[in-house]
Amino acid sequence: MAVVAIYDSGVGGLSIYQNVVARCPEHDYLFVSDNQQFPYGSKPEAELLARVQAVVTRLDQHHCIDVLIMACNTASTIVLPTLRETFDFQVIGVVPAIKPAAELSTTKRIGLLATPATVARPYTDRLIAEFALDCHVVKVGSSELVLLAEHKLFGRELDESIIGTILKPIIADPAIDVLVLACTHFPMLKVEIGTQPKKHGRQPRLLDSGEAIANRLVSLSQSLGLEPSKSATRVALMTDNNVELGFVTQLERMGFSELQHLTI
Ligand code: DGL
Repeated sequence: MAVVAIYDSGVGGLSIYQNVVARCPEHDYLFVSDNQQFPYGSKPEAELLARVQAVVTRLDQHHCIDVLIMACNTASTIVLPTLRETFDFQVIGVVPAIKPAAELSTTKRIGLLATPATVARPYTDRLIAEFALDCHVVKVGSSELVLLAEHKLFGRELDESIIGTILKPIIADPAIDVLVLACTHFPMLKVEIGTQPKKHGRQPRLLDSGEAIANRLVSLSQSLGLEPSKSATRVALMTDNNVELGFVTQLERMGFSELQHLTI
């Protein structure tokens, strides 16, 4: 039996969960949400690194994990080396899909939609320098969009005109043919994000990391010889168990039968 933990500040981990569970339904899954410290996108680096270490240490003390998916670009872009040095389990990091975007783009103009922290990270600049040097990258950082994704999952009404305002720099560039959703929250708003450029006659392809992460888990499961679980348990662990009812319903719909409090 293998346990896969998927960790994000909030609901973004569920977009990754949907991709990986479709390909690897045989594992047990822990969805870990540090909703008490949400959002991560506005935290100073040192504070975020310490927090992620504390959460993963706690997780490691209470659960026997085979694979941890760090389902947060904002965190992965700083914490991956530390996690891999500290813990014995395998760590898969979700990072901006710059490389496939540059390969897909024919106009060599791509959009990068992420948290303000991710767009400012040297890690992101290094990805661009290594894989997209022939591309012009228009970066947009937004915490508001992260919040809108949370609200959608909680079942609240969304004001979609805000999304149009956030996407203005992308919409303003007619040559952008690929838009990277470099925050795991944003695939939750794929329809709403896609609608806004369409209104202006633009249809950039939206690209997130979900499929690549699912592929990585498939190959890791094979190389590690991970055994299928008999129970296929799905547990949600939240650092603040004061959770909206609409969100509990969503978790149940996605197969999570248990919600536990993770005390840090
Ligand atoms: N889902 C996270 C990411 O991929 C960020 C959300 C937050 O700001 O907490 O970057």
